[in-house]
Amino acid sequence: MIKQAHIKPSYIEARKRTKEQVKVLTDAYIMNNELSKIGTNKKYYILTYGCQANERDSETISAILEDMSFTKTENMNDADLILLNTCAIRENAHNKVFGMLGRIKHLKESKPNIITCLCGCMAQEEKVVNEIEEKYKWMDVVFGTHNIQNLPKLISDAINDNELIIEVFSKEGDVVENLPVKRESKYKAYVNIMYGCDKFCTYCIVPYTRGKQRSRRKEDILKEVNDLINKGYKEVTLLGQNVNAYGKDLDCGITMDKLLEEVAKTKIERIRFITSHPWDFTDEMIDVIAKYDNIMPYIHLPLQSGSNKILKLMGRRYTKESYLNLAKKIREKIPNVSLTTDIIVGFPNETEEDFEDTLDVVNKCKYDGAFTFIYSPRENTPASKMEDLISLEEKQNRLQKLNELVNKYYLENNKKYIDKIVPVLIENVSSKSDNLYSGYTDTMKLVNVKCNKEDIGKIINVKITEAKTWSLNGEKVNG
Ligand code: SAH
Ligand code: SF4
Ligand code: F3S
Repeated sequence: MIKQAHIKPSYIEARKRTKEQVKVLTDAYIMNNELSKIGTNKKYYILTYGCQANERDSETISAILEDMSFTKTENMNDADLILLNTCAIRENAHNKVFGMLGRIKHLKESKPNIITCLCGCMAQEEKVVNEIEEKYKWMDVVFGTHNIQNLPKLISDAINDNELIIEVFSKEGDVVENLPVKRESKYKAYVNIMYGCDKFCTYCIVPYTRGKQRSRRKEDILKEVNDLINKGYKEVTLLGQNVNAYGKDLDCGITMDKLLEEVAKTKIERIRFITSHPWDFTDEMIDVIAKYDNIMPYIHLPLQSGSNKILKLMGRRYTKESYLNLAKKIREKIPNVSLTTDIIVGFPNETEEDFEDTLDVVNKCKYDGAFTFIYSPRENTPASKMEDLISLEEKQNRLQKLNELVNKYYLENNKKYIDKIVPVLIENVSSKSDNLYSGYTDTMKLVNVKCNKEDIGKIINVKITEAKTWSLNGEKVNG
């Protein structure tokens, strides 16, 4: 048997950033007659962890598997191929995946022919791949975030060979165009506008797992948006680790405000974008968001910490004051904007005073919502080497205190919606009850709406009748 690909990730390579031009690969995905039959009468099960970048990647992975004739199953026990698309951002994401591998091992013992794959950000970690090689040899394929296009060949090799196949590139990354996609929703879609990240915040693993910042060409983005409009899509979310830096790596002078304006001119009904790093948020961007009705008044603006000392240690390159100034400008120019954030508590040696600074920013920004996390050391990042004398108990106490404050503003802001009429894109039946449907407002508030089945996929006017901490209730109004 020919020895298959065995390319393992490297931390040293992953950190490198060279001046080498990013390549746009338009024909890297190869599907031929033989590969397209591999999955005939077979089912795949895919489990996605992590952020929207992974969700979007899973939509491509699913499409590739369906190009190979696999059909999707929601039941892991029924699957002939199991794929875990993993996240490495915090230790608990990592632990969940290893827990799941334990379950899959049992399945594989009773059905040795199932093909088991692990991909995504954990696959880019040297330590994880070493552990899989040592303790999870029964697995079939490990591939990374840079070579999804090679999946057909990797699966074909795995079927012909019992050995664990590892193909993870740690190079900086290319932009791969023309990959298929099987979208989860018929009404809203994720559109990648850039890959990777060059910010290297000291706590974060993403620049190592996703490679260098590579913006997609404007024409490719606009083509994708126009295709979506033609298919009846109402909403696009432009995706990137820090979308405000869009274009900085291209030579044609395009910037995020200009891209937003061009996307707005396609007349797609709703445009969102995540995530905005406060560092690159320009006045031009604020103006464009304010100018176009189809750019949603919703901005996710990660704070991480309110302490200048901690922000410096994190390498975030803004201060508490400049952040507050930016938030103020945004609120002034985009009146009904909803502002959400990410906050980390317990960064190495965060003092009570530092934490108070974070609470102070929350009190001033009165966020519409926040994702809050306890700092989790990630191997090989600069922060993981910093001395940390704060106990876990103390960090948990801070998280609880922060969550109470965040939730207070969440509810206060939601209460302002009562009796107002807001536009909601109705997506599906609410988990609460069959007669209720759910969707999001322009400001990204989740609403459970009394309306009809025919409203699914439409943006309708909804009168808000009740506000809860994490959602609103309302009913359809005509007109
Ligand atoms: N690119 C985005 C963040 C992507 S990661 C940005 O810069 O805003 C999503 C969130 O996870 C981050 O905003 C941060 O709050 C959190 N996070 C990242 N690394 C973490 C770590 N090591 N421990 C705890 N939380 C972390
Ligand atoms: Fe991570 Fe910072 Fe990049 Fe966000 S900007 S992905 S937090 S390194
Ligand atoms: Fe996780 Fe990778 Fe996203 S580490 S948060 S899946 S970029």
